[in-house]
Amino acid sequence: MYLVEGPEMYKIISKREIAPNIISLEVAAPLIAKRVKPGQFIILLVDERGERIPVTVADYNRENGLIRIVFQVVGKTTAQLSQMNEGDQLFSLVGPLGNPSEIDNYGTVVTVGGGTGIASVYPITRELKEAGNRVISIIGAKTRDLIIMEDEMKKASTELLVTTDDGSYARKGFVTEILDEVLQKEKDVKKVWAIGPAPMMKAACEVTKPYGIETIVSLNAIMVDGTGMCGSCRVTVNGETKFVCVDGPEFNGHLVDWPEFMNRLARYGQLEKLCFEAYRNACREENG
Ligand code: FES
Repeated sequence: MYLVEGPEMYKIISKREIAPNIISLEVAAPLIAKRVKPGQFIILLVDERGERIPVTVADYNRENGLIRIVFQVVGKTTAQLSQMNEGDQLFSLVGPLGNPSEIDNYGTVVTVGGGTGIASVYPITRELKEAGNRVISIIGAKTRDLIIMEDEMKKASTELLVTTDDGSYARKGFVTEILDEVLQKEKDVKKVWAIGPAPMMKAACEVTKPYGIETIVSLNAIMVDGTGMCGSCRVTVNGETKFVCVDGPEFNGHLVDWPEFMNRLARYGQLEKLCFEAYRNACREENG
C-alpha cells in the first residue's frame, strides 16, 4: 500500500526501462490518481528551473495513490527525467488536465497504438472493455524490442494484434495495414482510437475514412505549457481553431488539418536538438 500526501508527494516509487530509451515510472500522486481518467495528462517539472512537460497518464491506481507515466528519451527534459531514480522526488506535478476520452458502450471498437502511443491507448482500451465493448486492439513498433505493454494490452483487450515494421516479431507491417484488414473483416466497428506518431495517426484516419468510422486521435505531442496560455498547441479542426490542451487532447481525426499540425509539430525540432546536444555535452564535461 502506498498512499502519501505532503513531503513524499511526487516521489518515484518504481522505475523500469521497458524498452531501449523508454522508461516507465510510478509516482506517488494520490490526488491525481483519485481523479484522473483515460485520455488525460499531467504536467511535470523535474526541478525548480526545469521545463514543464505534458505527459499522458498511462495508468493509475486509486487505492494506492500511484500514477504511471511512460516516456521516451527524446530531448533534454526527458533525459533529465530518465536520470532520476526510485526514491527521488519530482519538483511538481499538475493534473489531471485535458478532457477525458469519451467512453461508452458502443459495441465493437478498435484501439490502435504506435510506439509510445501504446501507453496512451492502454487506459482507454481497458476502460472501453470495462464499459462492455468488444475491443480489438492493434499495437505496433519499428522492431521487437520497442513493443511495450503487450501483456497489459492483452489483458485490457478482447483481441490483441501485434505488428513490427521489420517483421522481427509477430506480424510484419504497419498498424494501419492490420487496421484495414480488421475493418474489411469486421462489419460493425463503431469507433476507432488511434494514438502514436503523427504520420501513423494521419494514415489511420485515411484507412478509416472510406468506412465512415469515427476515428479519435490524440494530438498531445504539440503541447508545451499545457494550460491554454502559450498558444503553441493551436490546431485547426473542422475549420475552427482549437487548443489541444484545453479543447482536446483528443479530436475527431477526420476533421484535423494534418499538414498544418505536422508543420507546427516540426517547428521546435531543430532547437530541441541543439538543446539536447548542449545538455549531453555538459553532462560529459561534468563526468570528466
Ligand atoms: S500547450 Fe500552451 S496553450 Fe496549449
